[in-house]
Amino acid sequence: MDTSQRNINDLPSPKGQPIVGHLLQFNSEAKHTVLENWVKEVGDVFRINMLGKPFLVSANPDINLEILKSRPDKFQRFFKINEILTEMGVVGVFNAEGEQWKQHRELTAEALNVKNVRSFFSTLQMMTERLYGRWCAFAKAKKEIDVQKEMVRYTVDITTSIAFGYDVNTLEKEGDVIQDHMEKIFPMINSRITAPIPIWRLIKSKKDKELDVALKAIEDLVHQFIEEAKARLHDNSELQENPTNFLEALLVEQKKNPDFTDQEVFGNVFTILLAGEDTTSNSISWTLFYLAQHPEVYQKVREEAQQVFGSTRCATSHEQVAELKYTEAVCMEAMRLKPVTPNLYMQAKEDVVIQDLAIPKGTTIMMQNKVGQTDEAHFTDADQFIPERWIANGCPHHTAHSPQMMRAFGAGPRFCPGRNLAIQEMKMAISMICKNFDLELAVKPEEVKEIFTFTMFPEGLVVKLGGV
Ligand code: HEM
Repeated sequence: MDTSQRNINDLPSPKGQPIVGHLLQFNSEAKHTVLENWVKEVGDVFRINMLGKPFLVSANPDINLEILKSRPDKFQRFFKINEILTEMGVVGVFNAEGEQWKQHRELTAEALNVKNVRSFFSTLQMMTERLYGRWCAFAKAKKEIDVQKEMVRYTVDITTSIAFGYDVNTLEKEGDVIQDHMEKIFPMINSRITAPIPIWRLIKSKKDKELDVALKAIEDLVHQFIEEAKARLHDNSELQENPTNFLEALLVEQKKNPDFTDQEVFGNVFTILLAGEDTTSNSISWTLFYLAQHPEVYQKVREEAQQVFGSTRCATSHEQVAELKYTEAVCMEAMRLKPVTPNLYMQAKEDVVIQDLAIPKGTTIMMQNKVGQTDEAHFTDADQFIPERWIANGCPHHTAHSPQMMRAFGAGPRFCPGRNLAIQEMKMAISMICKNFDLELAVKPEEVKEIFTFTMFPEGLVVKLGGV
């Protein structure tokens, strides 16, 4: 090795414990906060170990960007992500690697391209109208609401409709099973990926058994949708030309490529449900968390919506959503301060040197991506919620502004293919809420906790609504 290079053993390490190393400290509900605190303690690149196994932790934006861009050849997602999801019967674009990933990625990116997102508009409008109706009832009843749970309903309805054209309608009906099942799956993926020993393979706890039931129920349902969609497509050449949802698009592709199995179709539909729901609902929730504390920003979003929609309750065209520039700035600012995927786990596929750091093949890298987004060097008054910084010439005082530091949607070839759809959903919900309701926190801001279960969500974000 070149002597000017640093190797992982040369890196600093936060204080750990004998034998277990950093395992117990890391084994917390707020893993992202543990990593953030370690960055404060020892700097932006360091090592930790769990039961003797070393891990590289990087909050350095340049190193992280290089890693993200060097996929799929030099780096891949942490191998356990694929292992755990495959064990759960899910092989889709998020966990596939190599040639399989390329195939899945092409199909997914195609199904979520700008043209298709435009065609999803009527679904988004219908769900936003439903959210309006639901919240009107809450406002009338003066009922306090848990924002995060509400927003999950909104994104579940949108995502299931876009994924397989099925209207679960959790916004208007109570007790939908899909949502109950999906809620069990996310935290289990997170805890299994970071578990030092796969105990569930030997003894199943109550939660493991519940997970099996949830997975089986979702799998049965999706396979039922697959059969129904195949029957629809069978004699309908128009539908084969213009599939109306993600599942139909995948099945059309499957006809051209019989190697693409039903299990892979299932895996990718399931992946869209997993990747598209909590990420978006949590991002909307955090945006509302800041809006509730910044009445002047709330008012500006409302005025923009009034100007763009006129007398309607929510946006009535894709073009109107595109006009909501200030609302988009508000969403970006909330995602800067509260990225719902603050950590990404990667693995080196070969020996790699980045800057002066030698990363041996097989090394697991825990990326902490929030640090760059909230660093004073990149964003003036970095800890403050100032949406104006995202508007060209919007805030002359905030001179440091480095949008390229944003990693809320990842970076490189595996950058989130759902970004356009997610931003569209966020803008639709936020503009409708600000236009039609007054919103006030029913708890103190410090009582709202960051909980990390694969994505990071606000626990205890309760608000009171007023109508306008
Ligand atoms: C605000 C909402 C969202 C956030 C913050 C978010 C964030 C992310 C991040 C950080 C990644 C990893 C990127 C990387 O490795 O570089 C990712 C991947 C992915 N996201 Fe999103 N996402 C959101 C919404 C969505 C939506 C709505 C969909 C689809 C309906 C979606 C589908 C995916 C898929 C399929 C991947 C895997 C891509 C691959 O591995 O090639 N996401 N997302």
